[in-house]
Amino acid sequence: MFVRNQWYVASWDHEIDRQPLARRICGESILLYRRFDRSVVVLHDACPHRLLPLSMGIKEGDNIRCRYHGLLIDSEGRAIEMPIRSERPHKSICVKAYPVVERHRFVWVWIGDADKADAKLIPDFWPCSRSDWTFDGDYYHIQCDYRLVIDNLMDLSHETYTHQGSIGQHEILEAPIQTQTDGNHVTVTRWMAGIDAPPFWRNALKQEGPVDRWQICHFLAPSSVIIDVGVAPVAARATLEHHDQGVRGFVIDALSPESDTSCHYFWGMARNFDVNDVGFTARLKHQQGAVFREDVAVLEAQQRSILVNPDLKLRGFSIDAGGVRARHVIDRMIQAQHAPGGA
Ligand code: FES
Ligand SMILES: [Fe+2]
Repeated sequence: MFVRNQWYVASWDHEIDRQPLARRICGESILLYRRFDRSVVVLHDACPHRLLPLSMGIKEGDNIRCRYHGLLIDSEGRAIEMPIRSERPHKSICVKAYPVVERHRFVWVWIGDADKADAKLIPDFWPCSRSDWTFDGDYYHIQCDYRLVIDNLMDLSHETYTHQGSIGQHEILEAPIQTQTDGNHVTVTRWMAGIDAPPFWRNALKQEGPVDRWQICHFLAPSSVIIDVGVAPVAARATLEHHDQGVRGFVIDALSPESDTSCHYFWGMARNFDVNDVGFTARLKHQQGAVFREDVAVLEAQQRSILVNPDLKLRGFSIDAGGVRARHVIDRMIQAQHAPGGA
């Protein structure tokens, strides 16, 4: 039960090279590799002969030869050579080729009807592509329903306890939150006025003194969350509408469901300060990775508990409003695709 006719992140740009990478997105097995011209190929990962995964195959130029009986498939998914070389492949012998776009450092694959694929529908991760910002991150495979990760990211009150040894701060629990829905876009805003900056942000700002701090979580359907975070000195009079006066980042989170109880988590941080400090970028990624590993431990334990307690339901408190609304958006999109003539 996944939202179809959507772009999902299949991989980071740096994960894909000449050799095939196998991955399952929304229950569909795919393989990815690059042609010589570096464009990315995404094919269904099953040989049209006896269904051996093509990702086990042998690359020949931009084509891939099945490791079982040697059927040769081109990068559009067409069979171009039969196991018996004198036989001509029939055009019905082919595998599905998926629409693919490389953007914002990610490889996006269209899950759904290929003729509906439109690159304009890719979620707008603008901070990942701007020359005056810098962006890096990593990937975790998580054994949980992707919606549990969205719940987690839309409710940062968990930072106080899940991340008590790293980024947790009690001020986060004290600041009120506002939750808004605009179509398929859900926003949770937390504005902390005139507080002491936590160490990370004080160092980023490179000065002492009270700051305004913000955390604005944006759910972008079907399964991304980008979180606008930062601080500005109180004297700079930052507002919700304009808060570029201090230091600002976006926590980037793209979730791609694998199965009902597992998902791919592509995460990173884009920032507009010290953008050329490569060492800082590496340290930041390392620190962020350690924080997100704390989330992974909680989420996988939560999923196991959900599975052994089928009679118990998840409860929604006020802190869960963002995640609950994001789930409503997902449910609506899935219902729409089941309606007659649906997407
Ligand atoms: S299974 Fe691939 S050629 Fe036979
Ligand atoms: Fe977290």
